[in-house]
Amino acid sequence: MGEVILTARNIFKSYDNGEKTLSVLSDLSIKVEENQIITITGQSGSGKSTLLNILGSLDKPDFGEVEIDGLNILALNDHEIAKIRNQKIGFVFQFHHLLSEFTAIENVLMPVWIRNSSSQKKDEAVDLFAELNLSSKMNCYPNQLSGGERSRVALIRGIINKPKILLADEPTGNLDEKNALVLIELLKKINNDFNQSIIITTHNPDVAKLGYSKYNLANGVLKAVR
Ligand SMILES: Nc1ncnc2c1ncn2[C@@H]1O[C@H](COP(=O)(O)OP(=O)(O)OP(=O)(O)O)[C@@H](O)[C@H]1O
Ligand SMILES: [Mg+2]
Repeated sequence: MGEVILTARNIFKSYDNGEKTLSVLSDLSIKVEENQIITITGQSGSGKSTLLNILGSLDKPDFGEVEIDGLNILALNDHEIAKIRNQKIGFVFQFHHLLSEFTAIENVLMPVWIRNSSSQKKDEAVDLFAELNLSSKMNCYPNQLSGGERSRVALIRGIINKPKILLADEPTGNLDEKNALVLIELLKKINNDFNQSIIITTHNPDVAKLGYSKYNLANGVLKAVR
């Protein structure tokens, strides 16, 4: 068993829309080990994005604990949480969240600038654009890119700092089969090369197969899938 780098215990999360309370996660627990790929499937609305946001410290549960690299993140203030997030976690969001006033390569280098890392990262970014067949799009703005191209730019941004944990929310959702395969290969490669743990939510059976641990999210809890 590898070192555990992320633990969520007894997570409860509900949304209140005034009249009704919608319970999304109820008593959910998960452990993520170093170098592990976890895939999570589940119907639309089952809470996959909600769970990733909580695991990645972008959102807080109503109850429960989240530990990243031994730190109880719910006990930290927002500034401290943001620092941990930038150091340890990479996100590939379901809806990209690329910044519209910056080009593709500027979006990718944003986490590097925030972290003040070295300029060699630019070369790495250029290599990753090439690997994902995006070399000609580096200087385009997000509104000049297709949905699938934006997904791939968002993936590069998520991995550029080589975070210990990569959270990828339906990363192949907008991709054709060929580009989905390229992206799957890249996820395997970064997991292999950089010992990153990756948690992927997906509706794509080929992506779900990637998991060493495979789960299905239903009724607020995770069930192991074979
Ligand atoms: N901010 C919010 N306020 C109220 N309800 C929300 C909010 N965010 C999500 N929900 C509700 O919580 C449930 C879970 O949403 P979530 O986005 O986590 O699902 P999902 O599994 O990621 O779905 P999909 O496969 O469509 O991406 C849904 O019923 C959704 O309508
Ligand atoms: Mg979602």
